[in-house]
Amino acid sequence: MKNRAFISKLDRQNVKATHKQNPLFQKDILSVDQFTKESLSYLFDLAEKMHRLVLADEPSTALSGKVLTCLFYEASTRTFSSFVAAMARLSGGVIPIQGVQYSSVVKGESLSDTVRTLERYSDVIALRHPEAGAAHIAAQYAEVPIINAGDGIGEHPTQALLDLFTILRERGTIDGLHIAMVGDLLNGRTVHSLVKLLNLFDVKISLVSPESLRLPAGLKEVVKERIVREVGKIGEVVRETDVLYVTRVQKERFTQLSEYEVVKGSYVVSPDTLRVAKRTLVLMHPLPRVGEIAEEVDRDPRAAYFRQMENGLYIRMALLAAVLGRG
Ligand code: NCD
Repeated sequence: MKNRAFISKLDRQNVKATHKQNPLFQKDILSVDQFTKESLSYLFDLAEKMHRLVLADEPSTALSGKVLTCLFYEASTRTFSSFVAAMARLSGGVIPIQGVQYSSVVKGESLSDTVRTLERYSDVIALRHPEAGAAHIAAQYAEVPIINAGDGIGEHPTQALLDLFTILRERGTIDGLHIAMVGDLLNGRTVHSLVKLLNLFDVKISLVSPESLRLPAGLKEVVKERIVREVGKIGEVVRETDVLYVTRVQKERFTQLSEYEVVKGSYVVSPDTLRVAKRTLVLMHPLPRVGEIAEEVDRDPRAAYFRQMENGLYIRMALLAAVLGRG
């Protein structure tokens, strides 16, 4: 609210001069394209601090008086609740709109009007929407920063940031790793964001998907230098893989349910799948899983998906603190 009154988007550049060391101050977070190694390093250092803060069980007032609107037009468990928890951990407040059926959206209110309403009551808006590009549109209308919490099959930058942070924490480095992306590479927005972030590093990428769910050609072109193979079976890559990033087939993106039925059970990672994998493998999944990783695998120390979701809290605490100038 205060930002609307005092800091227009144009003025933000001037204010930024006072936040030289914070590259995210008052920025919209719409795509991973806006990140550099420097801004990643700033964010990850801050996320480590946030982890220590939570561990120390010391109340932080870093975001005291600040309000986040969580405006979610699509289902969410982890993203929504970790944004809410992030504000709570830093003494900020939240307007929680999970399920727009209880908002004026059901009366036909447009995204632009909804955003221009909510920014009067909050300092930052995290938006999840079924249409790719929705966060960019919201950012054109809003004066407060918009954080893209997933826009259709477009991007999910905060997830990719926590994914990269997880790889770094698990392995101590990104460079030199071989990452296999598995599942619905066509519709998976977490994959779309993560491959672009990985492109900043010296990595090898293997793509594993059914023929009909391959990574979109435009994205493949962006990361073509990193891609070492595109195959249909996990078995073809699992031995040499350092990070196995498994995803769900995105049922909600199919217009024909019969087409979903054909591909839905394409991959199941079982203890048997991992028998030939490296001892240092990092097994990841943005979750929810709907059968892609057998529950028996949860006991394997290589299963990193619960640590991965926890990292989402520290990354979102760091992002909110940075964007709101309290980093
Ligand atoms: C992902 C999403 O919403 O894109 N979930 C999440 O935010 N952790 C992945 C998915 O739904 O498959």
